[in-house]
Amino acid sequence: MKKAFITGVCGQDGSYLTELLLEKNYEVHAIIRRSSIFNTHRIDHLRRNENFFQYYGDLTDSSNLNRLLKTIKPTEIYNLAAQSHVGVSFDVPEYTADVAGLGTLRLLEVIRDSNLDCKFYQAGSSEMFGGKIDTIPQNENTKFTPRSPYGVAKLYSHWITVNYREAYNLFACNGILFNHESPRRGENFVTRKITRAVAAIISGKQEFLELGNLDAKRDWGHAKEYVKAQWMMLQQEQPDDYVIATGKCYSIREFAIKAFEYVGIEIVWKGNGLNEVGIDKKTNKTLIKINKNFYRPTEVDLLLGDATKAKEKLGWKPRYTIDDLIAEMMEYDLYIENNIKSVNLNNFGAIQENINCKQAIHVS
Ligand code: NAP
Ligand code: GDD
Repeated sequence: MKKAFITGVCGQDGSYLTELLLEKNYEVHAIIRRSSIFNTHRIDHLRRNENFFQYYGDLTDSSNLNRLLKTIKPTEIYNLAAQSHVGVSFDVPEYTADVAGLGTLRLLEVIRDSNLDCKFYQAGSSEMFGGKIDTIPQNENTKFTPRSPYGVAKLYSHWITVNYREAYNLFACNGILFNHESPRRGENFVTRKITRAVAAIISGKQEFLELGNLDAKRDWGHAKEYVKAQWMMLQQEQPDDYVIATGKCYSIREFAIKAFEYVGIEIVWKGNGLNEVGIDKKTNKTLIKINKNFYRPTEVDLLLGDATKAKEKLGWKPRYTIDDLIAEMMEYDLYIENNIKSVNLNNFGAIQENINCKQAIHVS
């Protein structure tokens, strides 16, 4: 039986990856960090699985990682834990560097010190490409010019993973993943913030949505498909680094228009800059406002990935379109808000899974 060790299991990707590995009959061991409130709602539906083991742990605590890894002896390690919010990384740069940067080194050091015979996946990010992009779309050879403390921390992790692969012959891979979303996405990332707000507005529980930069563009895929790529990287003969992306990008403005369209609202724009507003064409109500607090000190304007290498070497290909992704997220958020009956619930499978998570929060 293969044994996986996952950090960041309570996050969006951790929950989908755990499902995938349990389906593949892995024994899954994972660290959960202590919190004053239950933070396991994304994995509560899996916690009774006899092959799933959870431990308290933290990427900032070397002794904890050392003890756990030496005892568990995993065959694959997936390092997904991070302070993963780019905007927040400007507020907590040192902590972000400690977890998203040094945390990776701590894991690699345990593997090296204990001669662990295991494969290692590092959750790298398209945020590492940053601002001065010399290639569009971006691939594995594009220069990195990060624009945030988060991007810089992830870049350290990227290179230390390459370095340990070369210096100590470790099977260590970097996934350079472009943005991926789902109904399980954290609520302060822009896509989920939008779908949550649209559902709340149409249900009469919120008046308007406040956003920052509407014109940044992102290449958005579905998290479920992206965790499969993480697993595929570790099943290859040789370790390598791969870009994972859809090859299509949209602005925040376009995402918001599409999400409102999903509930039958046509947005028209008026004004400029901080005074721009998005208005419901039918009722003339202001539904989107700009709040300068959501702008970042330095922005990444455009991310568009070229995943040709992943397609050719891993056989990985995304299937979700942006409209499929928005539909799934909207359906879930509409359900959470008030179970609107007029919504086409053609994605009930995904919603059912998430309902189970939601119920688990309530019984905890
Ligand atoms: P997420 O939902 O924010 O999950 C991050 C997880 O890391 C959470 O479970 C969090 O714990 C955990 N964590 C944070 N600090 C920790 C620490 N000190 N010790 C142990 N665990 C800690 O992120 P995600 O979207 O699933 O992304 C997974 C990974 O991929 C992250 O490393 C992210 O930076 C990277 N990535 C994500 C994307 C994307 O678009 N989603 C793209 C590229 C790369 P709590 O649950 O307790 O907060
Ligand atoms: N979060 C947020 N909130 N972003 C906003 C808002 C807002 O109100 N308004 C506009 N944006 C813009 C941000 O300025 C950014 O350009 C874009 O929306 C996407 O922001 P996020 O959804 O927070 O994602 P991100 O691209 O910064 O980072 C995500 O993707 C990275 C991969 O490229 C995270 O998942 C990172 O962990 C990941 O590495």
